[in-house]
Amino acid sequence: MTRRLEPGRLVLASHNAGKLREFSALLAPHGLELVSAGSLGLPEPEETGDTFIANATIKALAAMRATGLPALADDSGLEVAALGGQPGVRTADWAIRPDGPRDYAAAMARIASEDSSADRRCAFVAVLVLTWPDGHTEAFEGRAEGHWVAPPRGPQGFGYDPMFVPEGETLTFGEMTPEQKARHSHRARAFAALAAACL
Ligand code: IMP
Repeated sequence: MTRRLEPGRLVLASHNAGKLREFSALLAPHGLELVSAGSLGLPEPEETGDTFIANATIKALAAMRATGLPALADDSGLEVAALGGQPGVRTADWAIRPDGPRDYAAAMARIASEDSSADRRCAFVAVLVLTWPDGHTEAFEGRAEGHWVAPPRGPQGFGYDPMFVPEGETLTFGEMTPEQKARHSHRARAFAALAAACL
């Protein structure tokens, strides 16, 4: 039996503006006030895990301990079939530049250059971990299957959205409205499971 979350404040354990926008929309109907770790000036913990669930748990527990509030974390990434599932949990790292902000154009170009096969299947994966102030946690996974395109297309969304086309569609996430993306997205699917169990 999963635990229900009472209405009140919930910390989003993320400094990512794109994730914050999407969770604000997803949580709006549920009577929870979302505050982000970024806006509270919380430090970003090191993501030392080898799995999405391990890293989401690290982030959720760090935000919960720093605030005493329930916390929600999302660890997510893109698994490219022909690259054996890479970049996977290292998806954010592929965009890191030593001396500047993250460079997603370079990260998307790297995927296109390393995957020279005809197989362009890939999937976005999100694992959400919700933690309560007593340390209890619940985890939920969502996947969006699709394929990647090069060059990237569309100004919407964030991160790798312009290179991802979900199954059965022709537009990339970068060309979709937030509502269209939410019909297919890994994050929205993981959140639907969380909402059914805990909200
Ligand atoms: P992390 O969860 O902080 O480790 O970072 C996730 C990485 O995957 C970031 O580089 C994101 O840009 C990328 N990512 C996760 N979800 C999405 C999405 O919905 N659209 C585009 N990129 C995403």
